[in-house]
Amino acid sequence: MARTAIVTGGSRGIGAAISIALRDAGYKVAANYAGNDEAAQKFKAETGIPVYKWSVADYDACAAGIAKVEADLGPIDILVNNAGITRDAPFHKMTREQWNEVIGTNLNGVFNMTHPLWNGMRERKFGRIVTISSINGQKGQFGQANYSASKAGDLGFTKALAQEGARVGITVNAVCPGYIATDMVMAVPEKVRESIIAQIPVGRLGEAAEIARCVVFLASDDAGFVTGSTITANGGQYFA
Ligand code: CAA
Repeated sequence: MARTAIVTGGSRGIGAAISIALRDAGYKVAANYAGNDEAAQKFKAETGIPVYKWSVADYDACAAGIAKVEADLGPIDILVNNAGITRDAPFHKMTREQWNEVIGTNLNGVFNMTHPLWNGMRERKFGRIVTISSINGQKGQFGQANYSASKAGDLGFTKALAQEGARVGITVNAVCPGYIATDMVMAVPEKVRESIIAQIPVGRLGEAAEIARCVVFLASDDAGFVTGSTITANGGQYFA
């Protein structure tokens, strides 16, 4: 019987590529999204992957959303915490709202999604938690004190929870993408983006599908001995 996966932020960007790659690998997939109805409906029409709307920043909405997905598709075996936002600003200009929004989605969102699923995975003695962190959680980034803190937090969460999941068949891993050709990176001012590409030894932005392939490996039954780890996929820009 096919395992069931949920991908947060799963209808656009890296998340869409992950949803599609998991579906192509034979999983039942649900794609969560928070805001962009038009993109989600287009994604659903093109892929046949069902979409579910709620904000990962809201714990109660996550619990209710997960219950709905499980009623439709069966118990969730694989959680991909992909939903993430940026609110870039140099720290002297950063507002409390910019800090709280980024921590609320990128870090609290990982707790809010993992916590309601954890006991079910423990009882079934199987689970795969894969969290999409970032190169900027590893190295820090000018203009991203909020984002870098949230993504570094995701790595600490991964390493701690891996120790708790190990005895009950749950692996907990992270992927740290570098700069990938998505709307998020395209929103960076063009001059800044060009200077970033100049720092990537492979000489280009990454493709979302290149991150998705890392996730498919970590989600697989074959990856049972890999836990607490980080796959760094950044074109050689930074060696963690
Ligand atoms: N290192 C050092 N100084 C820098 C710098 C850097 N990387 N980037 C900008 N600065 C300096 C500028 O030279 C300028 O200095 P001067 O005032 O002396 O000329 C100053 O910072 C700019 O200050 P401003 O007050 O004008 O800043 P701003 O309000 O225009 O915002 C910024 C600056 C928000 C940092 C902007 O440069 C930016 O968006 N940078 C991109 C940050 C980034 O890489 N974000 C990643 C988004 S993609 C993502 O997050 C996905 C992922 O996981 C990889």
